[in-house]
Amino acid sequence: MLLIREMKADDVEIVSKIESEVFSMPWSAKDFLEMVEADYAYYYVAELDGEIAGCCGIRNIAGDGEITNVVVAPSYRRKGIALKMMEYMLEEAGKVGIGDCTLEVRVSNQPAIRLYERLGFKGEGVRPHFYDKPDEDALIMWKR
Ligand SMILES: CC(C)(COP(=O)(O)OP(=O)(O)OC[C@H]1O[C@@H](n2cnc3c(N)ncnc32)[C@H](O)[C@@H]1OP(=O)(O)O)[C@@H](O)C(=O)NCCC(=O)NCCS
Repeated sequence: MLLIREMKADDVEIVSKIESEVFSMPWSAKDFLEMVEADYAYYYVAELDGEIAGCCGIRNIAGDGEITNVVVAPSYRRKGIALKMMEYMLEEAGKVGIGDCTLEVRVSNQPAIRLYERLGFKGEGVRPHFYDKPDEDALIMWKR
């Protein structure tokens, strides 16, 4: 059974482990803990049959939503988990007054770009050399 719920302090070790397995510049447990404790940030985990499969998070920046993290562990992908997790997050964001939402994604990251397009995000610009390790441009996407 898939459960999407708010991230808690107890989850930060496991989500940072997933991050470190997936990203070249992963968030640490401390980074996630700061977000769990911040009153302007909303972070969620997806639990499949009791195991944390992924997480996502959004920050309220003066009424706009800045999505900072979206990840699903490799063995849990293509099961619709990211889609459900993000739909949940966007719905919750609406309830707390977040309007337009934005995110950056590596221009080569087709799986994520397709996911975001399915959720209604559109590419609105490119930020050159936004990423390190490896150097790459970011596509800036908005859902308005
Ligand atoms: C991007 C990511 C979060 C998608 O997670 P997921 O749970 O596998 O995604 P879902 O199963 O919910 O997929 C939803 C839709 O997104 C698109 N999608 C997801 N993975 C895809 C892939 N590998 N290729 C093409 N489209 C893909 C498809 O439209 C898919 O719908 P479909 O399966 O019906 O075709 C996951 O691949 C991931 O963690 N990648 C590494 C981390 C990352 O890049 N995060 C984003 C940083 S900006």
